[in-house]
Amino acid sequence: MRIGILTAGGDCPGINATIRGVCKAAILHYGMEVVGIHSGFQGLLTNDVEELTGRSLSGLLHLGGTVLGTSREKPFRRGGVVDDADKPGLILRNVAQLGLDCVVVIGGGGTQKTAAKLAALGLKVVTVPKTIDNDIWGTDFSFGFDSAVTIATEAIDRLHTTASSHRRVMVIEVMGHKAGWIALYSGMAGGGDIILLPELPYDIHRIGESILSRLKRGKPYSIVVVAEGIRTDGRKRAGEFMAQEIEYETGIETRETVLGYVQRGGSPTAFDRNLSTRMGGHAAELVATGQFGRMVALHGDAITSVPLDEVAGRLKLVTPDHDLVVQGRRMGVCFG
Ligand code: F6P
Repeated sequence: MRIGILTAGGDCPGINATIRGVCKAAILHYGMEVVGIHSGFQGLLTNDVEELTGRSLSGLLHLGGTVLGTSREKPFRRGGVVDDADKPGLILRNVAQLGLDCVVVIGGGGTQKTAAKLAALGLKVVTVPKTIDNDIWGTDFSFGFDSAVTIATEAIDRLHTTASSHRRVMVIEVMGHKAGWIALYSGMAGGGDIILLPELPYDIHRIGESILSRLKRGKPYSIVVVAEGIRTDGRKRAGEFMAQEIEYETGIETRETVLGYVQRGGSPTAFDRNLSTRMGGHAAELVATGQFGRMVALHGDAITSVPLDEVAGRLKLVTPDHDLVVQGRRMGVCFG
C-alpha cells in the first residue's frame, strides 16, 4: 500500500512522535510506502509532498512541532493559498494522482471534521486525535495535552514563590480554547487556590470572598488559574480581565501572566511520546486492515478506534462531576 500522512491545525509536542509511530509501523511492519504531505490539507491542494523513508524518522520521538509543517487550511471554505472553487474535488484528484491508497490525518477537532467530510466524499482516511486542549470527543486523552499540562504546572509552581514574596494574587491564563481541561489539570497539579473554567460559571464576589478568607487565615496570597475561554467583558483577554476584577473586588495587588504558546512548544513528555507511538502504530494497523473512516482513540489504557462521523463537530468539555472538580471542591479549591 502507498499512504499519505499530514498534520493539520495547531502544533503541539508529540506530533513528530506520532508521525514516527505511523511510519515505522507502516514501513517496517506492513511494508507500505509513505508520502509526507506538507502544511496540512494545503499540501494536498498544492501537491507539496515528500517520500518518507526510515531515515526520515530518526530523531523525531523527542522533537517538538511537526517536521511536515501544518496549516489551518479549511478545504470546505473558500480562501487560503489555493482559492479553487472545488477544493475538496481537487484534493481527491491529487490523492489519486499521487497514487495514495489512503491518508492518515493527525489533527484537532476542526481537522477531524474536515476529514469526516472528505471521507463522505470517498477519501479513505484514518485520523489520530491531536490537541493540547484535550477537547476531542471519543478519546479520553489526546497527545499534546499532558505536555501542555506539564509546562503549565511548572509555571504555576514558579508563581507561588513570587506571589508569597509580594503578598499578591497571581493570575495565570492557560490555553484550552473553549474547554477547561488544561486549567483544571494544571491548576490542581500546581496547587491553584482558584481555578476558573469556561464550563463552570463564576461569581466575582465569591472569588473575592475566597481570596479574603485566605488572607484572614494567614495566607496573604493566592494563585488563580484561568482558562482562556472563560466569560470576560469581550474586550480583554481572560487573564487581564480577571486580574483587574480581582484587584477591584479585594483591593489586593494582582498581576497576570499569559502562558501562551510555550504550552505548545518543546519536547513531549514521556506519557505523550508513548501515547503518540501507540496511536501512530494503531493508525497504521487500521490502514493495513482496511478500517477507514475511523479515529484512533484512548479508552482507559486501551487504544481503540471510533467512527469519525461520531467525533466530527462534537466537543468534549469538563463536567461538574469530574473527579478533579469534586475532590478539589472538597479540599477547598474555589471553582468560581
Ligand atoms: O487548539 C490549540 C490552541 O493552542 C488553543 O488552545 C488556542 O486557543 C489556539 O490553538 C490558538 O490558535 P492559533 O495557534 O491559531 O493562534
